Amino acid sequence: MASANLHFTVVDSNQNSWEVEAEPGDNLMKAGIKAGVPYEVACGGNAECCTCHVYLPKIVIESAEFVKPDDAERDALDWASGTSPESRLACQMKVTASMEGQVIKLVGARK
Ligand code: FES
Repeated sequence: MASANLHFTVVDSNQNSWEVEAEPGDNLMKAGIKAGVPYEVACGGNAECCTCHVYLPKIVIESAEFVKPDDAERDALDWASGTSPESRLACQMKVTASMEGQVIKLVGARK
């Protein structure tokens, strides 16, 4: 049985926005790239560059399915600017059902 698709929005600091469709378990950054989100991916998705830094909505962070960042991601975020409790690296995250209808803020992309 196919998984239900989820829909959520990614916005950047210039109020550009992209509607993303993905399945639970998809890589959050790759799903965004398919929808045109301009992730720079300077490190190739290896939790090193923080160009995929995003702020997640609280509802996602507080959901039962939320997986906390591992040591490599936490170490990388220590070097990112503007980190907050909502910060994650999109390349290290899976899409979860709690993202349905939510807005994810892209911090790390450079124009
Ligand atoms: S793409 Fe480099 S940290 Fe995510």
